[in-house]
Amino acid sequence: MIYISVLLKVLILSLLSFTTNVLGGYSPTHVSCPSNKTLVRQGTGLSHDEKTWLAKRHSITTPNLKAFLQTKTNLTAAEINGVFQNNSSDINVGIALSGGGYRAMLTGAGELSALDNRTVGAFEHGLGGLLESTTYISGLSGGNWLTGSLSMNDWISVQDIIDNKYDIWDLENSIFLPEGLHPIKTYEVFRNISLDVEAKKNAGFNTSLTDVWARSLARGFFESSGDYGADVCWSSLRDKSVFVNGEMPFPITVSDGRYPGTKLVSSNSTNFEFNAFEMGSWDPTVDAFVDTKYLGTELDNGVVKGDNSQCVQGYDNAGFIMGTSSTLFNLMVAKLENTEIHLIKSLKMKFVNFIKNLSSDNDDISIISPNPFFNTHYYNTSSSISQSDSLFLVDGGEDGQNIPFTPLIQPAREVDIIMAFDNGNNLNGLPDGTAMAATYDRQFSDVGVLGTFPYVPDQATFLANGLTSKPTFFGCDASNLTSLVGSDDHGHVPPLVVYVANRPYSYWSNTSTTKMSYTEQEKLAMITNGFEIASRNNLTSDAAAADWATCVGCAVIRRSQERQGVAQSDTCQKCFSEYCWNGKTANTTISASQLMETLGSPATTTQKKEGSKVKSLLQGIAKKIFPNLSTGMGV
Ligand SMILES: *[C@@H]1O[C@H](CO)[C@@H](O)[C@H](O)[C@H]1NC(C)=O
Ligand SMILES: *[C@@H]1O[C@H](CO)[C@@H](O)[C@H](O)[C@H]1NC(C)=O
Ligand SMILES: *[C@@H]1O[C@H](CO)[C@@H](O)[C@H](O)[C@H]1NC(C)=O
Ligand SMILES: *[C@@H]1O[C@H](CO)[C@@H](O)[C@H](O)[C@H]1NC(C)=O
Ligand SMILES: *[C@@H]1O[C@H](CO)[C@@H](O)[C@H](O)[C@H]1NC(C)=O
Ligand SMILES: *[C@@H]1O[C@H](CO)[C@@H](O)[C@H](O)[C@H]1NC(C)=O
Ligand SMILES: *[C@@H]1O[C@H](CO)[C@@H](O)[C@H](O)[C@H]1NC(C)=O
Ligand SMILES: *[C@@H]1O[C@H](CO)[C@@H](O)[C@H](O)[C@H]1NC(C)=O
Ligand SMILES: *[C@@H]1O[C@H](CO)[C@@H](O)[C@H](O)[C@H]1NC(C)=O
Ligand SMILES: *[C@@H]1O[C@H](CO)[C@@H](O)[C@H](O)[C@H]1NC(C)=O
Ligand SMILES: *[C@@H]1O[C@H](CO)[C@@H](O)[C@H](O)[C@H]1NC(C)=O
Ligand SMILES: *[C@@H]1O[C@H](CO)[C@@H](O)[C@H](O)[C@H]1NC(C)=O
Repeated sequence: MIYISVLLKVLILSLLSFTTNVLGGYSPTHVSCPSNKTLVRQGTGLSHDEKTWLAKRHSITTPNLKAFLQTKTNLTAAEINGVFQNNSSDINVGIALSGGGYRAMLTGAGELSALDNRTVGAFEHGLGGLLESTTYISGLSGGNWLTGSLSMNDWISVQDIIDNKYDIWDLENSIFLPEGLHPIKTYEVFRNISLDVEAKKNAGFNTSLTDVWARSLARGFFESSGDYGADVCWSSLRDKSVFVNGEMPFPITVSDGRYPGTKLVSSNSTNFEFNAFEMGSWDPTVDAFVDTKYLGTELDNGVVKGDNSQCVQGYDNAGFIMGTSSTLFNLMVAKLENTEIHLIKSLKMKFVNFIKNLSSDNDDISIISPNPFFNTHYYNTSSSISQSDSLFLVDGGEDGQNIPFTPLIQPAREVDIIMAFDNGNNLNGLPDGTAMAATYDRQFSDVGVLGTFPYVPDQATFLANGLTSKPTFFGCDASNLTSLVGSDDHGHVPPLVVYVANRPYSYWSNTSTTKMSYTEQEKLAMITNGFEIASRNNLTSDAAAADWATCVGCAVIRRSQERQGVAQSDTCQKCFSEYCWNGKTANTTISASQLMETLGSPATTTQKKEGSKVKSLLQGIAKKIFPNLSTGMGV
């Protein structure tokens, strides 16, 4: 107690002295404009840069995919060669990682690591080599913390993080007290975050809670040596050789647009994406992309307003983009002031008020201001978005689509197969297919005209028929999907979706979305369990599991075979009868406890209790802030 009160005194005294203002690397700056002052294009087809990049990536993924099929599957040489012969187009594998806080980040890390040949054991008892064959990787909220922290740190592997080769993902302390109960350091953290955000504000940019959230998050995802990624931008990838040379997949982050003046995020909200080259939306409400590097520049109908010195750089800070995809958690910062817990209440004295001063009325949004699409006139721009000064973005899962499918089902991207990892929370911290239904439904709305998503059943069927207890393939026969393909899709065949849901194998991986700290042991257990999910318990979960890699191989080559009119081998037919959704729906429902029974108990039966006092306090806060989160949007 004495220690805590000393801590508080130090904190309060020091927080009162927020005066110095050092311009941090976080703040965007004005730079001279590129010679072409048109920074926006209509969303027709892929950007020139993405096309050029794809050629490089394909020169790597194509031989890798061949190697994966040769080394990990039973497919015959003739079957494999057929896919790569006669000018058949390159196969695009996409990976989608869902939201769900650290649960999604850690489980997703294990799942991804099972596809990564750099992981110990992934080749022997996982799908090692598939990640090396992947073209696109999309992340949302917690899933984007994963894809972002790997991508923005030179495409390090999950194994590197496990082996402590990089000093990131130290989750022992909560985001809110990243240095634990160390008074001086805690003061420094809050001061440094405030200075960064203040610098952005003083440079003339609108700031919001997302900026505070972004700088807090970044402390877990970037090393301290570079001031926690203060000057790492999403577009910085263009200067990184691992990206330039196509040695990593193309990372895409998603966010939802909220219509100005509304609070509700409905299923018809505009889906935005951020990639290394561009930020924007394929939806008819925007149908445009802006150069990510110059985000923050004032544009009128896509053209720079003012003279050549008026362009802005650094707005696309990587932590800020990761925060923008996960604004749901802004509320945790915003609501700190409502808690009765003394420690936090006292911090409120200065810091929380300081935060409140930064934000506009809307705490749970990220403001992109000025709006890069102001006064654009593409497709259907009676849309209110083009008339708004600012763009209001929220957590990518708030429209119910907790798996970031939108960028991967765009006809222009020609994705053949999506490995979809669902670590959302629908029932007892586990998914029930709600996210799949949300993307399926969206294709029938005005905003979702581009892109087709295969038929999926209702949530009761997902649970009762075991579609979450083992991986399930959707859209197995392209010929069955033709009636879903709209005229805007120009006949593009939708990808086959391999749906892989979180479930416990060796660890109770259904942790709370609001659990903001993990011990080292918990973190590693979550990652291992994720590996087991994607590898079907290291190829042993049932009699069929030994052939799991072969069956994934069959799914990967399916669209290519269909394009060429090649029939499936007996091996692949066997796989498809094992894993494809058979089109049947269940007429029974199962309860949460029945679900847990069918999934079985991990060997380590109890979750470790939160260790320190601070951690349990923070858990308490989280519960207060989000009492109903589990019934909400499925994150
Ligand atoms: C400038 O960029 C726009 C958008 O990418 C493009 O349409 C236009 O042709 C470019 N103009 C010149 C002169 O290169
Ligand atoms: C590729 O072309 C050869 C020769 O034209 C033909 O015999 C073979 O059937 C073709 N393979 C496929 C998969 O279309
Ligand atoms: C592939 O296409 C190119 C150009 O269209 C052609 O020159 C080449 O002969 C084709 N190769 C095969 C194996 O069909
Ligand atoms: C599965 O493989 C991973 C990675 O090699 C390993 O950490 C884990 O202990 C294995 N699990 C089982 C159940 O064998
Ligand atoms: C993965 O590693 C194995 C064993 O080292 C190797 O045989 C295989 O070719 C690798 N796969 C890819 C796609 O690089
Ligand atoms: C705060 O920022 C200063 C100056 O960049 C740095 O020296 C210090 O280590 C930072 N402290 C923390 C706790 O991040
Ligand atoms: C979205 O749906 C709501 C009601 O469902 C409707 O009022 C609104 O106009 C729609 N917005 C767009 C852009 O379609
Ligand atoms: C909030 O901003 C107002 C106006 O700039 C200022 O008077 C007030 O002191 C600020 N409050 C805090 C807690 O920083
Ligand atoms: C800040 O946001 C407000 C409200 O959207 C807008 O009117 C103003 O122009 C913005 N300022 C800047 C510098 O973007
Ligand atoms: C596709 O359609 C055929 C014929 O209608 C049917 O037999 C088959 O089960 C369907 N496949 C799926 C995966 O729905
Ligand atoms: C793959 O080959 C193994 C032996 O190499 C065999 O046991 C297994 O049944 C085969 N799987 C399929 C799907 O044919
Ligand atoms: C569904 O209900 C019908 C009768 O209402 C029953 O005959 C059938 O077996 C049930 N199907 C399943 C899969 O439970």
